[in-house]
Amino acid sequence: MTDKDDLMMPRPVRDSQSEMAEIVLPNDANPLGALLGGRLMHWIDLAGAMAAHRHSRNYVVTASIDHLDFWTPVHVGDLVILRSSVNRVFHTSMEVGVKVWVENYLHDTCEHVSSAYLTFVAIDAGGRRLPVPAVVPESDEQRRRYEDAGRRRETRRLELERRNLKS
Ligand SMILES: CC(C)(COP(=O)(O)OP(=O)(O)OC[C@H]1O[C@@H](n2cnc3c(N)ncnc32)[C@H](O)[C@@H]1OP(=O)(O)O)[C@@H](O)C(=O)NCCC(=O)NCCS
Repeated sequence: MTDKDDLMMPRPVRDSQSEMAEIVLPNDANPLGALLGGRLMHWIDLAGAMAAHRHSRNYVVTASIDHLDFWTPVHVGDLVILRSSVNRVFHTSMEVGVKVWVENYLHDTCEHVSSAYLTFVAIDAGGRRLPVPAVVPESDEQRRRYEDAGRRRETRRLELERRNLKS
């Protein structure tokens, strides 16, 4: 088997699951001390890219970020935890899910802030798209995310088609 074949061997979801943590500083917040949505989106993109890089073992670009909701306000001094995992690989693209939590270490609470689905495309140093090895879901939750990712891809495809028809 060549090194190239080895790189295309399917890999379990757990091998590329990633976690990132940030303490919210005044520069991340609005004048009322609440975390800026744009800053959280930046962290979501980075956390998602970590799992995509680890899984594909290549450079990746963000092709899309699905709809985002912010359910819980986050404040200066809070600890933000972002967990990412590859839900499903298609050909050169992969869907990564990122779940965001806020931990308040003074009150010992942890709340779900946001969830996002991002699509990353693997590329080489010249910007050419590259195939990505398959991902193997092992738990019931990973299998559910794998199935759901297939439905979301179809929804994205239809939405792109609808927008292209309009323009
Ligand atoms: C993302 C990008 C590489 C896709 O290139 P393209 O020429 O449109 O490629 P294709 O239409 O052949 O699609 C390639 C893959 O991307 C997926 N894709 C393309 N546009 C997409 C979108 N808007 N949402 C989700 N997936 C998308 C396709 O489904 C395909 O996946 P597959 O190979 O797994 O089947 C290209 O549009 C690009 O470079 N965009 C800029 C990315 C960027 O700068 N991001 C921000 C900074 S990281």
